[in-house]
Amino acid sequence: MRQALAIVGCIGVMALLAPHASDGRARQTTTFKNIKVFDGLTDEQIDDAMMYMRGSLGVQCEHCHDDKDWSRDDKEPKRTARQMIRMVREINRQLDDDLAVSCYSCHRGHVRPLTSLPLLTERPSGVSTVVKATPASNSLSAGGVLKRYLDASGSAGWSRLTTRVMKGRLVTSEPAVYPAELYYKTPNKFRSRIIVSGEPYTKVFDGARGWSADNRGSSDAHGGELERLRRQATFALPVDLETFYPKLSVDGEATIAGEPVVALGATGKGDARDRLFFSTRSGLLLRIESTTISPLGSLPRRWDYEDYRKVNGVRLPFKLRETDPDYTYLWEFTEVRQNVPVDEAMFQR
Ligand code: HEC
Ligand code: HEC
Repeated sequence: MRQALAIVGCIGVMALLAPHASDGRARQTTTFKNIKVFDGLTDEQIDDAMMYMRGSLGVQCEHCHDDKDWSRDDKEPKRTARQMIRMVREINRQLDDDLAVSCYSCHRGHVRPLTSLPLLTERPSGVSTVVKATPASNSLSAGGVLKRYLDASGSAGWSRLTTRVMKGRLVTSEPAVYPAELYYKTPNKFRSRIIVSGEPYTKVFDGARGWSADNRGSSDAHGGELERLRRQATFALPVDLETFYPKLSVDGEATIAGEPVVALGATGKGDARDRLFFSTRSGLLLRIESTTISPLGSLPRRWDYEDYRKVNGVRLPFKLRETDPDYTYLWEFTEVRQNVPVDEAMFQR
């Protein structure tokens, strides 16, 4: 399970290829032992850079690492990666732009960069949804779009609910299929449980802290991982969306799978820039796109909300698809029950 071993966590921090970054928040790594090129970066920034390198080369962490001791330098690709980081810094110094060129500029998901041109049909399409300001979108307000979303999803119905239990499965691009269960309690207690080779793997958010646990032990969620868990834990997204995005504005119109949508732009925590897409027809939230700036380049992520169905007076997506640069997660639910007893101990360690 990738997430079990990835030291994930993301905070958006600009242009940190410069060796000794300092933005006031930066704190030297305390946990890592063998940092030679990323000195001066925080643990979260180093995590982000690792995810960026893995995605750029289309490899697993173990291509460069011995997962029993991440600090060892035995593997040739890890040593080469250090030279590559120095090379990228040198190129960018000459171009006078910290993020002009990075690993993905050459590697594009391959260990060995290609030099032959692809045919037109093999070229990857852009990662983000194309949004255009139109007379129709100019006449809308962000507050109006959110209000319509809240109404479409059941407005007053939310206040009558206290718990939710969702059962189904998690399908990943590994490829793998895991039986899955999610437990929610208002306002934001959450537990997810998937079964990996017969063993449970859980993630919990208790309203303030988050952690993941499997048969080998548990580990705290920090930085961006904690932020994502906090969002996943939200019981009523249509009610609480504004707490995640205090400053939203209308960006324009777009289409998602042929469906017209209106796009709101948002500045999240740190430098993260997010976009939210609402169906023009139903008013419901269909997609969120979010970008984290890693020290080596940006890491886009996308969440798609699909298959809305009405349960106890509110509309819930029965499919949630998360797309990362090198991984996808699809939560599919077959059974959703609300206001059923959920033991408080579920959210305790
Ligand atoms: C392309 C090679 C490459 C890939 C892929 C890669 N890393 Fe690294 N990793 C490095 C290099 C190089 C360093 C040392 C950086 C330095 O010297 O500042 C490092 C350092 C680390 C460290 C710090 C170890 C210590 O104590 O010094 C950890 C932890 C780590 N990587 C985890 C990961 C994880 C988890 C992944 C997968 C998400 C990953 N890495 C993917 C090249 C890689
Ligand atoms: C200017 C283009 C370019 C950029 C930018 C670049 N690389 Fe490379 N990289 C190459 C080429 C070309 C090779 C193959 C070299 C060879 O065949 O000897 C390579 C090889 C590698 C290898 C060895 C492949 C293996 O066998 O495992 C690693 C690891 C690697 N690069 C990591 C990185 C990382 C990490 C970054 C970003 C910090 C990066 N590269 C940026 C061009 C680039």
